[in-house]
Amino acid sequence: STSPSSNEAAASDAAARIELTTTAARLEQLRDRHREAVTDAETISAEKQHKKGKMTARERIEGLVDPGSFVELDEYVRHRTTAFGMEKRRPYGDAVVTGIGTIHGRQVAVYSQDFTTFGGSLGEVAGEKIVKIMDHALKVGCPIIGILDSGGARIQEGVVALGKYGEIFRRNTAASGVIPQISIVMGPAAGGAVYSPALTDFVIMVDKTSHMFVTGPDVIKTVTGEEVGFEELGGALAHNKTSGVSHYLAEDEEDALDYTRALLSYIPDNNLAEQPRYEATVELEVTDEDRQLNKIIPDSPNQPYDMQAVIEAIADDGEFLEVQPLYAPNIVVGFARVDGSPVGIIANQPSQMAGTLNINAGEKAARFVRFCDAFSIPIVTLVDVPGYLPGTDQEWSGVIRRGAKLLYAYAEATVPLVTCILRKAYGGAYIVMGSKQLGADLNFAWPTAEIAVMGGQGAVNILYRNDIKKAEEAGEDVAELRTRLADEYTYNVASPFLAAERGELDSVIEPAQTRLVITKALRALRTKRASLPPKKHGNIPL
Ligand code: HXC
Repeated sequence: STSPSSNEAAASDAAARIELTTTAARLEQLRDRHREAVTDAETISAEKQHKKGKMTARERIEGLVDPGSFVELDEYVRHRTTAFGMEKRRPYGDAVVTGIGTIHGRQVAVYSQDFTTFGGSLGEVAGEKIVKIMDHALKVGCPIIGILDSGGARIQEGVVALGKYGEIFRRNTAASGVIPQISIVMGPAAGGAVYSPALTDFVIMVDKTSHMFVTGPDVIKTVTGEEVGFEELGGALAHNKTSGVSHYLAEDEEDALDYTRALLSYIPDNNLAEQPRYEATVELEVTDEDRQLNKIIPDSPNQPYDMQAVIEAIADDGEFLEVQPLYAPNIVVGFARVDGSPVGIIANQPSQMAGTLNINAGEKAARFVRFCDAFSIPIVTLVDVPGYLPGTDQEWSGVIRRGAKLLYAYAEATVPLVTCILRKAYGGAYIVMGSKQLGADLNFAWPTAEIAVMGGQGAVNILYRNDIKKAEEAGEDVAELRTRLADEYTYNVASPFLAAERGELDSVIEPAQTRLVITKALRALRTKRASLPPKKHGNIPL
């Protein structure tokens, strides 16, 4: 026989079941579930994150996408792990928020790790959510943005967690060159977990609060005895300035989200999509600002000037979104719009290391060229390069192998390539910086250009060795002789008109005409068709 109390319970269960069959009750159940899964979870999360000066996973997404556009997915999934008593804690959504939304009205897919749930760690279910949203992005051809804040592979889940990382890396690689991939690191990213951002196109880090490393300070100390702090080892500054892992150092989380939105305004949805074009309001007459360029090149060849000023003079509204500004500043790369359409700009920076090319500059520019080419963004190259940086450090670090990447990238590019030589273009550096022979479509130079195998002083030392020796023996003013011969060489041999005479340049233009000429060149090249021989893939020197 049953006791009165168990009879009562059975009756109330039955009532609840009947109650649930009504539509109103089911809606109520959804609201309850949503409250628990999202609203309450968010309150707890906000308390923890705000204390650390961080936004929650959902706040970050809301700050990134267009207001009201976000649709969360998989907020009701829960992990199935029983190891280490995990079955007692099965929060909805697990440790990552995923979903779809728009930026500038265009579709994006987003995932955002929730550090307040299991340290944002990636177990089976969190991994499945990320894989699912990546697959969605690949299927529809929209950018995928990952916001990382995680202790890495979920320790309790062992190999299953590691396997999910493998699945993510494979998708990052499949998506490479098909959809834009952006990683915003807003907390820790440690161990193998760093390799998902590393495989994506752009890595954005937040000053002081994001850290990336393969092995942390404790392991380093145990294994090598070296002592180093989190910030020094893998902070945002270290990865923006020293390692080149990151492309933008955001001053805070908001700045990181703003940069991401700005970046996406220049990038198409996928490798087959139209460029995002804006209504162009460019003046097709030479303006006063254009005329400033006639005065920008100093009379002395060793005097630097700021290449940014030239870029701004060419860009619509003077707007230039620089990528990796702190790494290898001797080369400047980034996005601008010309005539309303996006272009990638690659320019030597004479105000940093005289604009010489080194390994870091070559790799930075090569990666940027390949991104632009993959997404059909035309490339404008502005040249002022005295050559490669000499030294054992460069040679032994592999400047031959690693410097070859930029050659490979330009030579392989099929997007419109427009090059303008402003001043120096010497030796191999001339060839690599978007020369005609490497595949550029339209090549221009200012009358101040100097194109030759080497600089005047170096050439004179070789060509006039005997004359100089004789002059020395005769007690003549050798310095004066050298300078005179070098000037003659530069004037006669390095003149842009020699290159123009050979058709290596398509024209020599007045600096004030640069914006107009580039605008018209890009218009002319809009319908460019080019293809490479069929192959599985090339073998870029790595
Ligand atoms: C499970 C984890 C976790 C992890 C953190 N947590 N990392 N749970 N798996 N990997 C949990 C903590 O137990 C804690 O739970 C909560 O997250 C917050 O962590 P704290 O340590 O309190 O936070 P904090 O002091 O800010 O330190 C953050 C941290 C530290 C530096 C990330 O948690 C840490 O060192 N975690 C381990 C990192 C790690 O070695 N991961 C494996 C890397 S290898 P409670 O419940 O107490 O709040 C890897 C391989 C990827 O990821 C492989 C790819 C091929």
